[in-house]
Amino acid sequence: MNIKIRQENDSDYEEVESLTREAFWDIYKPGCEEHLLVHKLRKVSSYIPELDFVAVLDDRIVGNIIYSQSKIADSEDVTHEVITFGPISVLPSLQKKGIGSALIAHTKKLAENMGYKAIVIFGNRAYYHRFGFKSAESFGITTAEGANFEAFMVMELYDCALQGITGKFYEDPVFYIDKEELEEFEKKFPHKKKHVTDTQFR
Ligand SMILES: CC(C)(COP(=O)(O)OP(=O)(O)OC[C@H]1O[C@@H](n2cnc3c(N)ncnc32)[C@H](O)[C@@H]1OP(=O)(O)O)[C@@H](O)C(=O)NCCC(=O)NCCS
Repeated sequence: MNIKIRQENDSDYEEVESLTREAFWDIYKPGCEEHLLVHKLRKVSSYIPELDFVAVLDDRIVGNIIYSQSKIADSEDVTHEVITFGPISVLPSLQKKGIGSALIAHTKKLAENMGYKAIVIFGNRAYYHRFGFKSAESFGITTAEGANFEAFMVMELYDCALQGITGKFYEDPVFYIDKEELEEFEKKFPHKKKHVTDTQFR
């Protein structure tokens, strides 16, 4: 399989949104919202175009990873910049073939070279620990509400990058998706039936 990884450009936007919809559909809720998130993320100031990559197979986009700037606010209210990736999507028929891992490895290296301190994400522990993500709790980082849970993870991009940095994590408000906006956006896509599935309760 000859997968190429390259930066996303404007002409890829619709294809990437459709891919994201296919990848996330019915996984975390009936239907999904991540395709709208991708659509909105590219327009906010926290979006990092240099880390927005697609995986291409035979001229077809089969994977995407997108990053935004986020922050950790310490007890003195001083903010420290970190980055967050997501959504990350791979076409369902091509999952578990290393495409997601290749997108993460490629962009992680670039993020290191760009001097970012750390990547903070919410995701499946079983998948992300292989890349070096550890629980946010082990770094003294909580959600904005002061919570910690398994899916909340951090990876430093160089040794001791987060030394002396603890506090609350804030991602861009764009991650909050309005239900009505989603319903309107969904009309642009071919109809797809929503289902309740086992994966929504994990
Ligand atoms: C998650 C995703 C991007 C991974 O990409 P991928 O190309 O399928 O993954 P890779 O081939 O690099 O890695 C495959 C490994 O990851 C595991 N894996 C993939 N998705 C996983 C998930 N959601 N939870 C746990 N493990 C997962 C596979 O079981 C496999 O494990 P193994 O190597 O021990 O057999 C892709 O499966 C996807 O698009 N999923 C739907 C959307 C989604 O959930 N995105 C992530 C939100 S946090």
